[in-house]
Amino acid sequence: MDFKQMMTIRVNDVEVILKNYLPADEKLTFTITDAMKYSTLSNGKRIRAIMMLESYKMFNGDGDVINPFVAAIEMIHAYSLVHDDLPALDNDEYRRGALSTHAKYGEAMGILCGDALLNYAFETVAKAFDIECNERVARAFKVLATKAGITGMIGGQVVDVETEGREIDADTMMFIHKNKTAALIEASLMIGAILAGANEDEIAKVESIGTNVGLAFQIQDDILDVTSTTEELGKPVGSDDKNNKNTYVKYKGLEEAKREVEEISNNAIETIDSLSVTNEFLRELIKSMITRKK
Ligand code: IPE
Ligand code: IPE
Ligand code: MG
Ligand code: MG
Ligand code: MG
Repeated sequence: MDFKQMMTIRVNDVEVILKNYLPADEKLTFTITDAMKYSTLSNGKRIRAIMMLESYKMFNGDGDVINPFVAAIEMIHAYSLVHDDLPALDNDEYRRGALSTHAKYGEAMGILCGDALLNYAFETVAKAFDIECNERVARAFKVLATKAGITGMIGGQVVDVETEGREIDADTMMFIHKNKTAALIEASLMIGAILAGANEDEIAKVESIGTNVGLAFQIQDDILDVTSTTEELGKPVGSDDKNNKNTYVKYKGLEEAKREVEEISNNAIETIDSLSVTNEFLRELIKSMITRKK
């Protein structure tokens, strides 16, 4: 089986888990559960959930306790996109090859859908305690909450929005990328490791792999915003320019940005190779992201 076929199987595995945990519809609140399904089950790459599962497997985890976390990371990621696209933030009307959530359901439902997904992510993770009630689950819960919050994804989004149209230094640029994007990837790899029983040194190493993969991922996202097409990306190209964002491409130029994607990804590969456990698929996935086109 080639890498692409292995990837298709994993995307499907994630979507089965996600569907299983999404809420049932109720008559009066149908709009919100419909919007939640619209924004999570659309055509996402599922890389965070896949990395979580692969990290769990790499440290020999083999239970069901990972499943609510897999569903939750996709819910939190989807909520971050729903809110990121709102008129008050990036104001983008197209996502994953379809109308963004607020463009389809209206702005109020877009806001509420994001709120609903964030809250439902934690309702879902709380169910992990019914599967295993132990310190690993408690720690994984804490990592998810922290990396999604003001010292993680939200912190990055705040600085991203507040520095639009302003010149920033290298540290601020790094802060934005590390938090808005790398934090959820760090959480994914760490939660897989924690639930599987990895030791402190291993958890720290997967966190640093997540930092580098996340930085490279966001730099590549910035590159694709100028080099790709809306058809291929499934979201509007030129969004960063429209919003006067501080991107890596703007800051360092296209060629240097490409070089850094490769260098930072190779740092992540070096760290993965320094572990006493291996996961060839996860290694390939990280490598494939250097040249990703969407
Ligand atoms: C988009 O993430 C937001 C960024 C952090 C760049 P993805 O590129 O993983 O989006 P989907 O889930 O595949 O749509
Ligand atoms: C957003 O970065 C990262 C999030 C936390 C949602 P971008 O604003 O560059 O993501 P896209 O390009 O809209 O997917
Ligand atoms: Mg944004
Ligand atoms: Mg955006
Ligand atoms: Mg972008």
